[in-house]
Order: sequence, then structure tokens, then C-alpha cells
Amino acid sequence: MIVTEMRESIKAIGILGTGSAVPEGVLTNAQLEAMVDTSDEWIVTRTGIRERRIADQGTASSHLAYEAALKALERAQIQAEDLDLIICATVTPDMAFPATACLLQDRLGINAIPAFDLSAGCSGFGYALTVAESMLRGGPYKKALVVGVDILSRITDYEDRSTSVLFGDGAGAAILGEVPNGFGFLASELGADGASGGVLQLPGGGSLQPASLESVHRRQHFIKMQGSDVFKFAVRILEESAKRVVAKAGLAMEDVVWVVPHQANIRIIRSAANRLEIPEERFFVNVDRYGNTSAASIGLALDELAQTGDLKHGDYVVLVGFGAGLTWSALVLRWFEGGLVRE
Ligand code: UT7
Repeated sequence: MIVTEMRESIKAIGILGTGSAVPEGVLTNAQLEAMVDTSDEWIVTRTGIRERRIADQGTASSHLAYEAALKALERAQIQAEDLDLIICATVTPDMAFPATACLLQDRLGINAIPAFDLSAGCSGFGYALTVAESMLRGGPYKKALVVGVDILSRITDYEDRSTSVLFGDGAGAAILGEVPNGFGFLASELGADGASGGVLQLPGGGSLQPASLESVHRRQHFIKMQGSDVFKFAVRILEESAKRVVAKAGLAMEDVVWVVPHQANIRIIRSAANRLEIPEERFFVNVDRYGNTSAASIGLALDELAQTGDLKHGDYVVLVGFGAGLTWSALVLRWFEGGLVRE
């Protein structure tokens, strides 16, 4: 676990604009009732999810990433040519290689700048923000595009009721650049507990179990999850990591205006609110409409929050997530509104 103090940085790096994209196709709880042995009542009470978005065949992660990136560029009022760096967090890349970030770079009509993917499951957006922030603060890079994108419907087993009700598709993007001192990212914490990685896996298709007829028959190309183990990890780590980064930023919990948590389950979010003693209304929630969109989740939620107008210049915001690895990421930023264009 690395805790990074950003407040004393040479230059302050923040978010200049956000964007998001979801496919048009909706999968409701009623539709799932016809697919697996479940009920709208179980899904809503146990998860808070009412519907999720599902990408059409032919839509890949780079397509959603592109849509989200264009909006983020527009809101940051910069051109794709102004970017120095692209980081894409995903566990469902278009293909094993080239990286989805490189496919996105090409789609944006730019080249030469570094572009790479990062795999940290649902913590991916927070990981990518932290990596990009460090590269901008310490290096020659000036503007970065960070995208969290996943099309989990491609790796979800629609015969498994314990996972099929949870996941959806989407993308969230942010443009990072220099902001006035005192704004932007103040502290971050990234962590991983590799020993617990087995509770959330996509076993097939890698070098250990390459795709074969047998791997397909054994349904190895679908998400396998011990849900209650992930649940316990999530409630513990959300509380602990959020407390550590808020303290590291020199703030008290009462200073936090918004928490944008990973959108996995409303019960996990409520438990975090209780443990952190932050009113639930200060947690931005859209899990009811999108389900768990993995690496897209926090970026998508942050973008929706920014578009509501309720996120004000100077607000202290905590972004906190957990996911496959098992990994976690927590960041504190002070929102900088300058130049941000709303629809
Ligand atoms: O982004 C990181 C990825 N993962 C997560 O965030 C998931 C974290 N975990 C969770 O959100 C919850 O653990 C779940 C929503 C996955 C499951 O909720 P739970 O309250 O932990 O339920 P459970 O797994 O303990 O199962 C309770 C019962 C079981 O039946 P029995 O054994 O008590 O008879 C399950 O078979 O609920 C049953 N069940 C369902 N029933 C109806 C499990 N899934 C369903 C379903 N519909 N879809």
C-alpha cells in the first residue's frame, strides 16, 4: 500500500473536465426474472439495482471510451491534440493487444503520445487517476486523458443468478491538468490484497487457461465471484481507506462535501456512510440505473454528479473504490470549476 501526499506538490493537478457514455440498451430486473431464478424484489433489496445498460454486439470498450473522452475534452475545452498521455483502465479491453488506450488514441486522431491500459478491476479509475496525476506532477506531461471503461456483459454468465443481476456496461472519462494551488488532488491511496484475488476472477482466456473448447464448456470465460467475501472486504476497505486519505489531506470527515463511491451495491454504500458518519445524501448514487460498471463506475458517477450542478467550486470530494485483485483506491480532491462547461 502506497499513500501519497500530494498537497506539497510542485504543481497542483486536478480534473479539468469529465465525460461518460453508456449504451442505449437497457436490461431491467423484470427481463432478468425471465432469464434466471430471481426477482425484482430480491435484486432491489439486496443490491439497489433496478436496471443496467448493455452494449450491442459490435460495440467495444474503445467505442464507449471514445464517446466519453469526446465529452470530457469538450468540457475541459481542449482538443485531442493537446493531450500528452492516455491511460485506460479496463478488464474488458477490445482485445488482449493492442491496448484499448492505443485504439482510443487512433480513434481520437492523434499519435506519438504514450497510451497504455491498466488492470485494477473496479478500482481501475482511481488507479489511473493516481498514475496520471503523478506523471503530470512530476514529469513533462501537461494534459492527460483517463478513461475507465468496461463491457462486463461480455464476460457475465447470464445463467448464474448470483452475478448476472449485478453488472452493466459504461465508460467514464476525465481530463487532468494543472489547477491553482490548493485545488485538485490532495491525497491518494492505492492498495492490493493479492492473497484474496481468488474471490473475484475471470479464469479463462489468459496464459494459465487459454481459450479451448473445454474452457468454453466449463464456462471459464465468465466472472466467478464469491459475493459475500467481496462484500465484507468492500465495507471494511471503504471505511479504512477513506479515513486515511481524508486525514492525509489534512481534512476532517465533516469537510467532505461529496463521496463518489464505486457503485456495486447500495448496501455497501449505506454501510460506508454509517461507518464514516457521513450523511447518505452526500454519497452520489446511480447504481439503481447502471448496476456495477466496474472500471467505469466512479468516472460515470463523477460525471453525472458534475452535470447536476451540485458539485461546486472548492468542494472536497472523496473517490473511493474496490475491485478485483483485490484492489482498492481512495482519493481526495478539491473541485476546480474553472473552464468547466456544463450542458
Ligand atoms: O465491484 C466488485 C464486484 N463485486 C461486488 O461488489 C459484489 C459484492 N457483493 C454483493 O454485492 C453481495 O454479496 C451480493 C449482491 C452478490 C449477494 O448478496 P448477499 O446478501 O451477500 O447474498 P448471498 O450471496 O449471501 O446469498 C443469499 C441468498 C442465497 O440463497 P440461500 O443459500 O440463502 O438459499 C443465494 O443463493 O440469496 C440467493 N441469491 C439470489 N436469490 C435471488 C443469490 N443471488 C440471487 C438472485 N436472486 N439474483
